[in-house]
Amino acid sequence: MMDWSDRHYRYFMRGITRRTLLYTEMISTAAIVHGDRAWLLDFDPEERPLALQVGGSDPDEIGRAVAAAEPWEYDEVNLNVGCPSDRVQERGLGACLMASPDLVAHIVERMKRNTDKPVTVKHRIGIDHLDRYEDMYRFVKTVREAGPDRFTVHARIAWLEGLSPKENRTVPPLRYEDVYRLKREMPDLDIEINGGIRTLDDADMHRRHVDKVMIGRAAYETPWVMSTADMRIAAEACPSENRLSAAERMIPYIERFHAAGTPSRKIIRHMLGLFAGMPGARQWRQGLSGKLPENAAPLLAEVLRRMPRASCEAPPA
Ligand SMILES: Cc1cc2nc3c(=O)[nH]c(=O)nc-3n(C[C@H](O)[C@H](O)[C@H](O)COP(=O)(O)O)c2cc1C
Repeated sequence: MMDWSDRHYRYFMRGITRRTLLYTEMISTAAIVHGDRAWLLDFDPEERPLALQVGGSDPDEIGRAVAAAEPWEYDEVNLNVGCPSDRVQERGLGACLMASPDLVAHIVERMKRNTDKPVTVKHRIGIDHLDRYEDMYRFVKTVREAGPDRFTVHARIAWLEGLSPKENRTVPPLRYEDVYRLKREMPDLDIEINGGIRTLDDADMHRRHVDKVMIGRAAYETPWVMSTADMRIAAEACPSENRLSAAERMIPYIERFHAAGTPSRKIIRHMLGLFAGMPGARQWRQGLSGKLPENAAPLLAEVLRRMPRASCEAPPA
């Protein structure tokens, strides 16, 4: 999620779940082709399995970007056909590509030619004038000809004219039934549903209708909701016994990045929701917000020490 998640967030999440697939935020293919690749693409092996999400609209450029990213060994490459922002729209990428299914099929084909990793597409159920189920069906029917390995469907229309990106994640109603119907009518496709799913109980309910579930904001704002994911997916225990151990795991990581010049606030900002809904949640947030020292590992240890034991030691739930 652009401006929210990054490699530090993903490392933190790997203390809570190992079996889920994580994604990078959308990275423009122009940036990969022309920019500082190490800065854009480096990640810690612990973040895997990890999908690289790219945003672009020029098949040649996307093909080059996918080839350039190959040495990084991402586990999957995903194409963004869902972002509604004006900036992205002006460049002809993101959700507006839903109006050009032939182009998206061509892009997917170029991506597949340049990687042997799975190539997947994340899209909306529709945009402005293409807002009926039949429009999405036609989009998927065309794009599937290029053989993408999965479709991730954000179950909301994106209104490209008149709504901000934030409103486009709340105002258009969720239409889960359209995604279920897509799976029923194209049962051989791998379909992942996304949008407004806040708990793993809800995710399990959706998994009765589709193959997979993607969780965005809830996984960021309330990361501990993912603590039973590995149990549900693979009958494996959460990698951290409790919130305390998930937080303590970050102390050496923060030290390591501080030594390499990364201020701790860039890491700690992702941990603020760890105690959401628990006694001490506000104390946790306040203790780790505001102006933090460049190396905030000792502060993190101190804030943890003062948190209510019951909140620190509550098991995954
Ligand atoms: C701040 C923010 C940034 C986002 N950036 C991306 C992005 O880079 N790529 C993407 O596919 N979706 C992005 N999204 C959309 C989410 O992935 C997701 O589709 C959307 O929030 C609906 O799912 P949710 O209700 O589980 O959050 C972003 C969402 C937010 C809140």
